[in-house]
Amino acid sequence: MKSPLIKQDDFWEVEYVNKVIIYKTINELKRYVKGEVVESLVEHYYKSDQLLQKNEPIKQGVLSHQKLIQHIYFVYFDQMSAVNNVRNIAGDLARQARKEKQFKLIVTGAHPLKADTVQQWCEGFYLGDYEYKGYQSEKRPARKAFNLVLDVPKQTDISAAIKRGFVVAKSQNMARDLANTPANYLTPKEFMTMTKKRFSKTGVSIKVYDKKSAKKKGMGAFLAVSQGSSQEPYLLELTLNQSKEAPIVMVGKGVTFDTGGISIKPSHSMSCMKGDMGGAAAVCATMSALEELKVKKHVKALIPLVENMPSANAYKPGDVITAMNKKTIEVINTDAEGRLILADALCLATTFKPKLIIDIATLTGACSVALGNVASAVLGSPQNVVDTILSKQDDVGERLWQLPLYDEYLDYLKSSVADFTNCAENRLAGTSTAAIFLKQFVGESSWVHIDIASTMENKSTKGYQVKGMNGSGTRTLIQAILTTS
Ligand code: BES
Ligand code: ZN
Ligand code: ZN
Repeated sequence: MKSPLIKQDDFWEVEYVNKVIIYKTINELKRYVKGEVVESLVEHYYKSDQLLQKNEPIKQGVLSHQKLIQHIYFVYFDQMSAVNNVRNIAGDLARQARKEKQFKLIVTGAHPLKADTVQQWCEGFYLGDYEYKGYQSEKRPARKAFNLVLDVPKQTDISAAIKRGFVVAKSQNMARDLANTPANYLTPKEFMTMTKKRFSKTGVSIKVYDKKSAKKKGMGAFLAVSQGSSQEPYLLELTLNQSKEAPIVMVGKGVTFDTGGISIKPSHSMSCMKGDMGGAAAVCATMSALEELKVKKHVKALIPLVENMPSANAYKPGDVITAMNKKTIEVINTDAEGRLILADALCLATTFKPKLIIDIATLTGACSVALGNVASAVLGSPQNVVDTILSKQDDVGERLWQLPLYDEYLDYLKSSVADFTNCAENRLAGTSTAAIFLKQFVGESSWVHIDIASTMENKSTKGYQVKGMNGSGTRTLIQAILTTS
């Protein structure tokens, strides 16, 4: 994938190129194309009532002129501002153009595009163009680089928006790649190797806690989850711009495969549990974006990586384990493993005296029951840090909905043999009880928890969403870090 370019020269030099024209009213479009070769095409479509159809925002026209074929896409936006409208149209266009083997599109508007819109065009275009490589024995032909050329003024804010849009999309695609990779390829060790490779020769330093050093730190919850698997656990600590400034710490659940352990899951659709490291993927991808955007803030990423398997060595319901902060946990269900590995990672996060901790995890099926697949859940304290993240969601285009974190939910986790249980015996308020469990490990830190179990996977391809693992949360995290002072 090549960087998108603003190449004004290209635009004038190439006489006939495949072009996207954005318009809001037919008069605006007619005014815009006046005197150009496309004028008659617009007139023709307008007369045949083919333009301005709201349920079909992209209309394709083919212009044959002096033996050259030019594809024109008329893109009708009635609501430029609706969440993800631009990203979805850009994603649809990218796939349509690729189907027609056009690898360059020039986007131009009857009005100059604003910086925010430009960023959304870039994001939607490269997200919609995503394809997971896969492991088919028959090699697919290499994909041609695809250039999006935006007809925009050469201003610094516009150039920055293009760069940001491209980097954000590339990062989310990186998270998608990680989550789409089968668990026999993406083991905890492979995740670590890949991360080291990505950040070698960059300003991001990596410290790795293996089984031995995790034991020394007292990470009994993290280690308990991993003990049923033949795959070694690792906890990665990535640091960008180490300094005396209090860091923002991201924590991402990295269960490379979740069978449920001894409390085994039903086999129906278990294969999607290769994506149970979606939080880890989003955190790693966010670090990648921050590095590429040369962000100057002190940021840490903690990524606990394990595989949750049943075996003779596996942890069991009824076991009591001790987390890094010495709190004891009675295991009720070994399928509530994500919160256990996060518990130790959150304890580690507090040792850095952070200004903010954001954790992200494919944590609870209950999240989908509450929100369907259209929003992720957000919880945390104090309320102002939750409000900040909520307030950005329309721009970012990743929907968030706050669920409560009432103290009463802790009553659901009462244990007669330990400080608390890892989950409730009942199925009530599953996302909230998971979060109240996590709260026991963040001390006094400002903390936001994002449950992406509901949005981790796209069931079909539409707009900028592509079937498969979604890389969700990546854009939210990038935005949260960019805007936290
Ligand atoms: N990884 C799952 C959550 C999940 C389920 C993500 C479906 C995406 C789709 C998590 O580890 C889990 O199994 N949670 C249990 C918790 C329960 C045992 C309290 C759940 O949600 O059923
Ligand atoms: Zn589980
Ligand atoms: Zn899980």
